[in-house]
Order: sequence, then C-alpha cells, then structure tokens
Amino acid sequence: MPLLTVGHRGLMGVEPENTLRSFLRADRAGLDAIELDLHLSKDGELMVIHDESVDRTTDGTGRVADLTAAELRGLDAGGGERIPFFGEVADAVRAPLQAEIKDPAAARVLAGLLRRRRLTGRVTVISFHDEALRVTRELLPEVSLGLVTGRSTPTAAERAVALGAGLVSCELERLDAGTVARCREAGLRVIAWTVNDPAQLARARELGLDGVVTDRPEIAREAAA
Ligand code: G3P
Ligand code: CA
Repeated sequence: MPLLTVGHRGLMGVEPENTLRSFLRADRAGLDAIELDLHLSKDGELMVIHDESVDRTTDGTGRVADLTAAELRGLDAGGGERIPFFGEVADAVRAPLQAEIKDPAAARVLAGLLRRRRLTGRVTVISFHDEALRVTRELLPEVSLGLVTGRSTPTAAERAVALGAGLVSCELERLDAGTVARCREAGLRVIAWTVNDPAQLARARELGLDGVVTDRPEIAREAAA
C-alpha cells in the first residue's frame, strides 16, 4: 500500500533545510505534502526556520524574534539561500503544505495570512503546542489541524480529539500499536517523523500508518510505491 509522503523541511537530507531550494526539490520529487517550520520575526513576519535562533542553520547569530525580517533575509541559510517568508513558499510550490507553528505567537499571524490568501484548503496547520492549535481552530474553523508529538506520543489520540485535529504526526520511535489503535478508533490519520531508512519504513508499514515524514527522496519513492 502506498503511504502518504511528507517532505521534512523540504527534503533536508539533500538540500539546506527550510529553504526554497529544499521546497522546490520536494515538489519536483513528487512528495504528497511539504512540511516547514514557522517563527515570527521581530517585526511580525512569518519566517520559515526551525530553531528559535539562527545560529545552527545560518551564518548569523541571535534569536529569530530579536531580528527584523530584513536582518533575517540578509543571512545565508545554506548554499546562498535566504530564510523564506511563508507566503513565498506557498507561491513557489504546488504541493499541499504542513505548516508547523514553532512559536505559538505565530498562530494568529498565520491564520490571518491563510484567510487573506485563501490558503485554508491547501495548508494543514500542525504544532507540538496545544495553544497554537486552539487559537488556529478558533480563528479558522475550516482548516485542517495536525498535532505533532514526541515524548507525548502515548496521549496523541486523546489530545488530538480534544483539539479538533484530524491528524497526528508522531515520533516514530515512540509510536506503538496501542497508540495507533486509539488514533484509529478516534478516526485520526497517523503519520510519523522521521522515516529515513528502510528499517524505519518497514516499521511504519508494520504499524499501518497513513504516511511518513522524510528527509530523503529515495525513501519517499519507496514509501509511495
Ligand atoms: O513534522 C513534524 C516534525 O517536523 C517535528 O519535528 O523538530 O523536525 O520540527 P521537527
Ligand atoms: Ca517540523
């Protein structure tokens, strides 16, 4: 059975994570959806970057929230790529997006942009933070929500139902058959992050998951077969 394939931060195994180059690569590779991470700049722009600080993924230093969009755009995010604005990614790729709210303060800004740009049918808003999903649901009753879980994976089903999410994206190593069964009973779709080698893909199939979040194009091809 083919699994839904989600490109993690684009296809970060082969391109600099969360850059347009990575998102375009995932789109060209035919991934079913593309995942990205969101923070707010000091001046309130939705920036696509994973960490709270720019230190690991760019040539700069400091917290994203302490830098303006112009300052963030001046940094090299890998191979000469810039930190993208969220809207730029939505314009650049065709695939549906999984927009992960890392900074809960970004929830309102994202909801406003999705509404204004009529993107609510193409974007699933995902987060580890219950509050970000609560705010999003309140502002956008129609948008699809996904709860992301790591350590909290055993309670994914119950929390997702309470939040009105239809999807859970769980850390593969923490998923077991019982948790998947409770998600199924609740009518939730279950995907796992990150699935980057054949053994992890085999485990995802054994658990009967709906999809995998991957860094790697060859795993995406295999999962879709
Ligand atoms: O899609 C969920 C996954 O991206 C969560 O982990 O740390 O890579 O954002 P992280
Ligand atoms: Ca993410």
